[in-house]
Amino acid sequence: MEDKKIDSTLSSESYWQDTVSLPTFPSLQHDIETDIGIVGGGITGITTAYMLAKEGLQVVLLEAGSLLNGTTGHTTAKVTAQHGLIYDELIRRFDASAAADYFTFNSLAMDWIKQMIKEKQIACDFSEEDAYLFTNSDEGFDLLINEKNAYKQIGIDHDFVEELPIGIPVKAALRMKRQYQFHPLKFLNSLLEEMLTLGVKIFEHTTATAVRHSENPAIQTKDGYQVFCSKVVEASHFPFTDARGGFSSRMYPERSYVAAVRTQKTYPGGMYASVDLPSRSIRYAPSQEGELWLIGGESHKTGKGGNTEKHYQALIDYSQDHFDMEEVRYRWSSQDLTTLDKLPYIGPISDKQSNIIVATGFRKWGMTLAAGAAHLIADTIMERPNLFAELFAPNRFHAKSHVKAYTKYNTDSAKELIKGKLEGTTIDVEEIPPLHASIIRAHGQRTGVYRDQEGSVHMIDTTCTHMGCEVNWNQAEQTWDCPCHGSRFSALGEVIEGPAKIPLKQKGNE
Ligand code: FES
Repeated sequence: MEDKKIDSTLSSESYWQDTVSLPTFPSLQHDIETDIGIVGGGITGITTAYMLAKEGLQVVLLEAGSLLNGTTGHTTAKVTAQHGLIYDELIRRFDASAAADYFTFNSLAMDWIKQMIKEKQIACDFSEEDAYLFTNSDEGFDLLINEKNAYKQIGIDHDFVEELPIGIPVKAALRMKRQYQFHPLKFLNSLLEEMLTLGVKIFEHTTATAVRHSENPAIQTKDGYQVFCSKVVEASHFPFTDARGGFSSRMYPERSYVAAVRTQKTYPGGMYASVDLPSRSIRYAPSQEGELWLIGGESHKTGKGGNTEKHYQALIDYSQDHFDMEEVRYRWSSQDLTTLDKLPYIGPISDKQSNIIVATGFRKWGMTLAAGAAHLIADTIMERPNLFAELFAPNRFHAKSHVKAYTKYNTDSAKELIKGKLEGTTIDVEEIPPLHASIIRAHGQRTGVYRDQEGSVHMIDTTCTHMGCEVNWNQAEQTWDCPCHGSRFSALGEVIEGPAKIPLKQKGNE
């Protein structure tokens, strides 16, 4: 069989983005007053805006780029409470009651999504699928047994099986029945349409840079305008008022990859995720041209994946080895944040600033966690009790679960900061081909050199404008990625993803 190579000219637009036409919105060009200001136009921001508008509140939503162009547009869109190996870990870190609450929170979010789709007859390729965690290693087998015991302890309906419908060889698999998958952008586009009729005002290409804090906060934008409101919701992935919550030292970013392929096989149903490394995630999407198999995985810390093209190639090799792949139709990647204790942060950013609410740290499971977060945020704003508020409170600190993880993560970040400063080669700039970049030392300084399609060379200071770590080149996405807190910049240094708000410094072009 001929070995298929990744086509490096494929764009990084996902299947979801390619098959939905989203409305566009102007940038904010005046001051505005509202009840609630939301920052972030992904699933969390949109779902929260929808719920608050249904409560009768005035909502303004700001998005720094285009709606649904971040992690939500690049997800695998599994709607499930099976979030990898998590329940055994939650029992160990916290207790069985916390693990059970996490399951209930996600199950209620799934119910809500299903109910919305049914009630509003949203055509979003929704289907019920069993979800499987699988392993092919001895170590993974032990982890899966622990996870199975955790399911049993907290009452999750499950099966432990030795074969998968999809036919790949496994030592064992843990099945959680009756989970879901959908087309996330078709679902959210329907919420968007209804939100607009409810009067939500949306502004794209509007970067929020700060919140002027007082009893009535004001969101300040890069263009110099303000959103005056009574509550701010930060649904911007990394909270943009980072310093107040210390999130830089409490979350780490990871990237993962998806290849959407056509195969010679018929998809047998089910959603799959391996517990072994490198990770693998499998589901299908019923596209107009037949089934697409979505093969995901290859997670790594942001900025530390080496040549990122190799991750796509690994997924293609896997598809070819196991599923008789015929063609790669799409490829995309996304970035997720994980908190030190694996639970998201949802709620007021601090005790003193109860009118600034954050939702972040969804650890690749943003479909259900975002829907749950929107409910929790709506309850917080409407001053209704919510059973899960304490579990996800951003100001929680559990000595047992935090101290070790906190120390390790911050030692890693500090190492990254120092190590990055010393790196850089003396490569001849002439050797850099178009659409590639290298890091060199120029006048003793670490410098990023990018050659564009026309052959012009662009040089940037590789010092991240967030907190000074050194960015690395991501060849597959053509971005500069920061390994410390996940900021991402275009090849020319513009901010694509925060927490950084300021572009990388240009060092002169030729
Ligand atoms: Fe924090 Fe780069 S994202 S230093």
